[in-house]
Amino acid sequence: MFRKTILGAVAFVAMAVGGSMAQAQDNPHTDQQSWSFAGVFGTYDQNQLRRGFQVYREVCSSCHGLEFIAFRNLSEPGGPRFSEDQVRALAAEFTIADETATDGRREGVPADRWPNPFPSEQIARDSNSGAFPPDLSLMAKARGIHMDFPWWIFTYFTAYQEAGADYIYNLLTRYTEAPEGVDVPVGQYYNDYFAGHLIAMAPPLSDGIVSYADESTPQTMEQYARDVSAFLQWTADPHMVDRKATGFKVILFLIVLSILMYLVKRRIWRDVH
Ligand code: HEC
Repeated sequence: MFRKTILGAVAFVAMAVGGSMAQAQDNPHTDQQSWSFAGVFGTYDQNQLRRGFQVYREVCSSCHGLEFIAFRNLSEPGGPRFSEDQVRALAAEFTIADETATDGRREGVPADRWPNPFPSEQIARDSNSGAFPPDLSLMAKARGIHMDFPWWIFTYFTAYQEAGADYIYNLLTRYTEAPEGVDVPVGQYYNDYFAGHLIAMAPPLSDGIVSYADESTPQTMEQYARDVSAFLQWTADPHMVDRKATGFKVILFLIVLSILMYLVKRRIWRDVH
């Protein structure tokens, strides 16, 4: 019985290691970034979220929607925290389809969701060589990174929840020339990181395309990618920081409770030998 268990355990480890080695060949290494929101005590950097929003707005929003973000979310605590006046002014720049309005359209208000750039999926596909630019609100939750066994085990201890931001950063920064012998069809681009390497999104970022108000921040492709990835992590998980703080308090409480329970147990059983 005991020998069977050991054999089973050895087989399991061998399979896990073998499996991850086989997969490692199709999964390029992820260049993990150091994020302000990493770790148990990490928090979103408000300035970074503002810059990330600027990149989203000026570059990505021409193709990608942000369905689950209402303008008013941009002024809420924990996010980019634009003032309510700024949000009202931003919303008013958009025209929103509304059946109850006189001509079926009206000026945006803070309660409106971010409008989709394309009126329908078909039109979106027609403008992108048949591919559909997915909504980005939850993209950082929908994607993750591959880690070899046993490295992913450590993520349970480091509270690693930034896989989505790491994925988006790598996707945006790893467009390269196609290697010799690889045919890139029209409307497709070679990306070293993307699964299958051929993606229908043209490289959206390049140095200097967005002008940050704060000139001390580098205006490079990498910086834009990091900022927009942080912003998309926030849109996908706006309560991450609160959740981590609550989790920390709960664990602390449970530790104190365990100690108390142990002392109580000792006291109650004191006379029983
Ligand atoms: C010109 C249109 C266009 C712009 C601008 C654009 N994208 Fe895309 N994006 C696409 C299309 C089309 C796809 C689908 C690609 C495919 O499936 O091959 C896509 C896919 C994606 C994906 C999903 C990749 C996956 O794993 O499936 C992410 C993430 C993404 N874009 C992020 C961004 C970000 C961030 C920006 C702004 C910096 C941006 N995109 C700008 C057209 C665009």
